[in-house]
Amino acid sequence: MIQSDERKQKVATFFDEFNNYLGGQAFGVRESLVAELLGSVHDKKVLDVGCGDGSLSRVFVDGTNDLTLVDLSPQMLERAMSAIAPDRRQRVRVFQNDLFEAPIEEPGFDIILCIGVLAHVEDVDAAIGRLSRLLLPGGALLIQFSDQDRKSHALDTAWARVRKKVWNKRGYEVTRTSMRTLRSAASNHGLTWEEERRYLTVPPIARLLIRGSKADFFEHFSLNTSWCSSLGHQMFARLRKPR
Ligand SMILES: C[S@@+](CC[C@H](N)C(=O)[O-])C[C@H]1O[C@@H](n2cnc3c(N)ncnc32)[C@H](O)[C@@H]1O
Repeated sequence: MIQSDERKQKVATFFDEFNNYLGGQAFGVRESLVAELLGSVHDKKVLDVGCGDGSLSRVFVDGTNDLTLVDLSPQMLERAMSAIAPDRRQRVRVFQNDLFEAPIEEPGFDIILCIGVLAHVEDVDAAIGRLSRLLLPGGALLIQFSDQDRKSHALDTAWARVRKKVWNKRGYEVTRTSMRTLRSAASNHGLTWEEERRYLTVPPIARLLIRGSKADFFEHFSLNTSWCSSLGHQMFARLRKPR
């Protein structure tokens, strides 16, 4: 067993409460990066691990793709499924399970999304190993993570410390990672690092003032302005399993 039962339970409990989901982080920037890095996706087997409310992979439910959703949180999976029209559900499978243990085909997927999940697993290298085994040769893995080697990451860390002291809702330490450790995990598990995008999110304190679409705007601005995005610690990367 790679994840302890205690960690799995804590993650599920934390994310079962929707207000804890992404801490109010805007989705717009994520959606545009998924589209930019994956292009149009048809006739593919797609896996979304740690899918949350499924808002990033719902776009693949177009009648041509098969979508598999995996998440520890039953509430998240319920939200994900209820957002898919009943006549579109035949090609969607759901596993309420740990990404290390879900009984899914190895290898079985052309595209895997793992967005905002690595901070919640205990062993990031082992997670990349499992995702690599799940990918079909030639398949793409899209990951999102925070790069702790960036200065802007310090703001998030400081905010997390305050949150932990005041609320301590999560009950576990998030796992810090970086571009360096992920590049090395990718190479340990036979994946090629193809492309990456960096962006700067609205600092947590500023979120109290800048909300919703305004925060989206800020993130788009950061994405489309190279000096601003180069300061960011939020990363998307596309990795590929060689044929
Ligand atoms: C920050 S949310 C991101 C959700 C979604 N990928 C998105 O970006 O909108 C992290 C999700 O990963 C799930 N998760 C965390 N660790 C997991 C694990 N080991 N196995 C399966 N799901 C996990 C959580 O329950 C939560 O729904």
